[in-house]
Amino acid sequence: MSRRLMVAGNWKLNKTVDESVALASAVAQNLKRDDLDVLVAPTFVAIHPVAQALAGSPLLVAGQNLYWQDKGAFTAEISGPLLKAAGASHVIIGHSERRQFFAETEKTVNLRVTAALQAGLTPIVCVGETLEEREANQTDGVLESQLAGGLAGLSLEQAAKLIIAYEPVWAIGTGKTASEDQADQAHAAIRAWMGRRFDKAVENSVRILYGGSVKPANAAGLLNREHVDGALVGGASLTAEDFLGIIEAA
Ligand code: 13P
Repeated sequence: MSRRLMVAGNWKLNKTVDESVALASAVAQNLKRDDLDVLVAPTFVAIHPVAQALAGSPLLVAGQNLYWQDKGAFTAEISGPLLKAAGASHVIIGHSERRQFFAETEKTVNLRVTAALQAGLTPIVCVGETLEEREANQTDGVLESQLAGGLAGLSLEQAAKLIIAYEPVWAIGTGKTASEDQADQAHAAIRAWMGRRFDKAVENSVRILYGGSVKPANAAGLLNREHVDGALVGGASLTAEDFLGIIEAA
């Protein structure tokens, strides 16, 4: 089964509004591929101007998180309907930095995934093990419990809309990339779990992105692997040259 590749840039806490618009525009103007999805996830304040600058281009825009209540007295939070109205079509959920620095749990990931789907946003659900967990041979168990908790209560129909990102914590921002075999094996385990939890169609169709020190030089090898359907790129998505280099290599 052929799945459409996605190359996604998670800009994290980087770029002013003007810098975000300039970067997104540079990517859009120099994009030569139309056989894959390209997505950028700017900071909340830059989503609307970036989406406006990208109007008419195939680039997709994502939020980096969302809160599960639509509106009300929740100071500093951003909801699915607000993201959608600002021009986002996707939202990253459960990034390891959220789990590590902002106390997010499988329960809150689950609330966010459900809220994103209700708002008509495509969730990009992040899972991944720490180095300690990998060395203790707990990788598959950790991935399974993150998936079971984060995707609890979802219907088949909802599951068919998800994108999963496998981001081993030890490979994020460290320059250490998972080997092509390590990535492919983890993706295969995630895919098999999706098949057991949902059905064969979801197992075959769910896109699983790899994230963790993806660069132009290592992208081709990773993205050629059977179960790797794209990349979620941090550092190398912050310049048009590197991000486009990854897209070209895909
Ligand atoms: P790096 O590409 O900087 O390792 O970050 C990966 C990541 O966390 C993307 O969400």
